[in-house]
Amino acid sequence: MLENLAEIAAKALTLIEQAQDLKALEQIRVKFLGKKGEVTQILKKLGQLDVKKRPQAGAQVNQIKQELSQAIEARKLDLNAKEIKKQIEQESIDVSLPGRRGSTGRIHPITRTLERVTQFFNSMGFGVEEGPEIEDDYHNFTALNIAEHHPARAMHDTFYFDTHRLLRTHTSPVQIRTMTQASPPFRFICPGKVYRCDSDLTHTPMFHQVEGLWVDKKVSFSNLKGLLVSFLNFFFEQNLNVRFRPSYFPFTEPSAEVDVTCVHCQGQGCRVCSGSGWLEVLGCGMVHPTVFKYCNINAQHYRGLAFGLGIERFAMLRYGVNDLRLFFENDLDFLGQF
Ligand code: PHE
Repeated sequence: MLENLAEIAAKALTLIEQAQDLKALEQIRVKFLGKKGEVTQILKKLGQLDVKKRPQAGAQVNQIKQELSQAIEARKLDLNAKEIKKQIEQESIDVSLPGRRGSTGRIHPITRTLERVTQFFNSMGFGVEEGPEIEDDYHNFTALNIAEHHPARAMHDTFYFDTHRLLRTHTSPVQIRTMTQASPPFRFICPGKVYRCDSDLTHTPMFHQVEGLWVDKKVSFSNLKGLLVSFLNFFFEQNLNVRFRPSYFPFTEPSAEVDVTCVHCQGQGCRVCSGSGWLEVLGCGMVHPTVFKYCNINAQHYRGLAFGLGIERFAMLRYGVNDLRLFFENDLDFLGQF
């Protein structure tokens, strides 16, 4: 019975040595040491031996069993190490590969335009004032010489909350608030959001204006002209023709609208300027004495120049954008171009 024990052991050891993975190794263990394994079978048959021979035979089989178990354990460690090494090689990180890029934010074209306008007027000694977007009738209209039944109220397409409260339709109420809170001289701009019930290719219900006010003893219409011509040349970075056209605003007298040579066709006449060669870009004038009266400023001693411009219009002209609504759709492909 023990004759082929050595042979079995030798065979088992060779197979263990050759096992290529843990699964194969386990099959070998079952084949020899499992319940029905070849070595186990021999152990079971020991009982058939002569009593005297049994202990020695038992010891012999057990020793083989132990040897094989040890060989399997050793091989298992080997295979495990190999497997880990293989895994590490497969999962290794190539630190020299370029990383993924994060996307960078940009300044919105409207903000850029506002900053450019502010930069110019700051350099001319203008400070910055702000006022509320929810206004009352008095500051938005009455104190600006737009009386209760004045037709100009209808022109403004106002969003009303109730009979007195509204969303400001222009930045001019900031003139009133600032002039009533302090005494002259004044030199400031007020940038901000304004609201009108209007929406198409060139109008959005919310847009941005910059108001400008300069009040002092000797401010004149020629100051107004000089200031605005310098501003327009700075903003568009070219020497444009500028013309002042007589106009009407209830809060200025005299009033003018300012046109520049069309920046698209250089005055030849195109779609942007409706063939006229001119683009209207500003409203302005000398502060109306009635406005001074509402603010307790003596119109005998002080004069003021005022102007107002729409930021979206300037941004559209500077960047060649033909649909105003694009600025507020938050399309990153569009915004990323600036
Ligand atoms: N507030 C005027 C508007 O919204 C613009 C303006 C401001 C005109 C100051 C003259 C002087 O149309």
